[in-house]
Parts: sequence; C-alpha cells; structure tokens
Amino acid sequence: MSYDTIEVSTQGPEGQQVGLIRLNRPKQLNALNDQLMDELGAALLAFDADDGVGCIIVTGSDKAFAAGADINMFLPFDFAQAFGQGLISRNWETILKVRKPVIAAVSGFALGGGCELAMMCDFIIAADNAKFGQPEVKLGIIPGAGGTQRLPRSVGKSKAMDLALTGRMMDAQEAERCGLVSRVVPLDKLQDEALGAALQIAQYGRLAVLAIKESVNLAFEGPLRDGLQYERRLFHALFSTEDKTEGMDAFLNKRAPAFKNR
Ligand code: CAA
Repeated sequence: MSYDTIEVSTQGPEGQQVGLIRLNRPKQLNALNDQLMDELGAALLAFDADDGVGCIIVTGSDKAFAAGADINMFLPFDFAQAFGQGLISRNWETILKVRKPVIAAVSGFALGGGCELAMMCDFIIAADNAKFGQPEVKLGIIPGAGGTQRLPRSVGKSKAMDLALTGRMMDAQEAERCGLVSRVVPLDKLQDEALGAALQIAQYGRLAVLAIKESVNLAFEGPLRDGLQYERRLFHALFSTEDKTEGMDAFLNKRAPAFKNR
C-alpha cells in the first residue's frame, strides 16, 4: 500500500521485525489532518496484523514529531459539523486498537494533537530538542484528542494544568522529570535508541508482550482493584503457555530462549 503523508518501512530479523512509521508533511511541521490520520491508522493496523512484526515505532522529522492538528482543517468546523461528523472520534484513535506495543520517537515539536498522539503511544522516547505542549488555549479551544485526560494521569494535575492553561512548551528534560517520556537521548541517537528498544521488545514472546500492554493500560485507565485482579488473571493465564516454560527453562539452563508465541 502506498501513502502520501507517512513513510512506512520495516527493520530487523524475520519474524521479529519492527514496523517504522514516519509522519511526513514537512512543510506543515507534520500537522495532523484526516488524510494523515487515516493513513497512520491503516499502517498501524497493517503492522498489527502482520505476524512478522513485534513492535511499532511512530516518529516524525528532526524538527517536528507533529505541530498539532492542522488548523486549516479545523477552521471551517462549527459545533454541529464537529459533533455530527465525529471530529477526532471518527478516525484519530485507531492507534488505541493496536495490541502490539507502539513507541513514539519524538524530536522537535510535539504540540496539541501531536503531544496527544505521542501520549496515545505506549511510551515516549524523546530527543534532547523535543518540545511538548498543549497550546490549544491560544486558539480558543481545548485539547481534543485526550490531552486533558492523559496528560494529568501522566504528569499530575499541577503540571497538566500549567501546560494546558498557559499553552507553554516544556523541553525534553522537564518532560522526563515529570514522567511524560521514558528516556531522553541526543537528537542524532534518537532513531537508534527507539529501534534498539523496539527490537528488544520484538524478540520476546508475543503473548507476554500483549498481556503486559493490556495490563499496564488498565492501570492507566481504570481503578486499581480492577487492574490488580486483571493482572493476576493474565499472570496465571501465561503459565499455560509454551513460552513461559521455554523462558524459564532457558534462564535456568543459561541459554537464549526460543519463543514460539504460543
Ligand atoms: N496547523 C497547520 N499549519 C501549521 C501548524 C498547524 N498546527 N503548525 C505549523 N504549521 C505551518 C505554519 O503555518 C507554517 O506554514 P507556512 O510556511 O505556509 O507559513 C509552517 O507550518 C511552519 O511553521 P512556522 O513558520 O510557524 O514555524 P516556527 O518554527 O516559527 O514555529 C511552531 C513552530 C511553534 C510549532 C508554530 O508553527 C506553531 O505554534 N504551530 C501551531 C501549534 C498549535 O497550535 N498546535 C495545536 C493545534 S490544535 C490541536 O491540535 C487540537 C487537538 O487537540 C487535536
């Protein structure tokens, strides 16, 4: 399949590949419009359905992961059109259906919908030039792709209020200090760092990886008691997999495991 607004490739050994998706609207600093979000959704679902792929990376350019929703696209909408057509809801959250881990490799601007897209990924690795923010208040609107919900869960109420109410940007170091990103690396190391993490994940037994993602997401999205119970069920369930026996046997016999994803 060919795309106009994203570039898609794979890297790594057969059966344990990493799917790489690069947002590519350089003139607009990768501003997100419906075409890009449709293409991103299609590419994500294709990698998710590909048995040879174990992890996915979403990235942008050195200058911008994404500078937000494309403001040109939003301008003509009134309430009836936005609500009636399901703006955002219709096609911007396909990523939430993806069961394999998705890493956001962020350099440059990740603003508005760009920050929200990064937060919809499973974790964020940032370059030292990354800048995060929810500047929608400056446009007379609010974050509309989960920013007011995911940001406080991720960085706490005070920081989320500060960012969303002032519209200021925070740099990569501040983003790491407050837990929005998991690692910060020099810009020229970003792609290697993200690929290294993704290749590591892709080599593990797929069932354990999918179960961890599901369970951590429940911690993020639901109450603690439900999350703990769900984790215990998945933990017990994985004891009936061949990968569990293989992984433990390999460790005890000091050899590399050969996971079969069953
Ligand atoms: N939408 C459409 N076009 C955008 C854009 C956006 N979000 N962000 C940047 N661009 C365009 C600019 O209009 C400019 O186009 P021209 O060359 O044709 O003039 C080009 O990209 C380069 O941008 P700048 O000249 O502004 O570059 P800069 O380096 O001076 O500034 C910036 C970079 C600080 C990111 C600035 O472009 C900016 O503030 N962008 C808007 C950020 C924003 O408000 N994002 C939130 C959008 S709303 C949203 O996302 C809602 C939601 O929750 C889903």
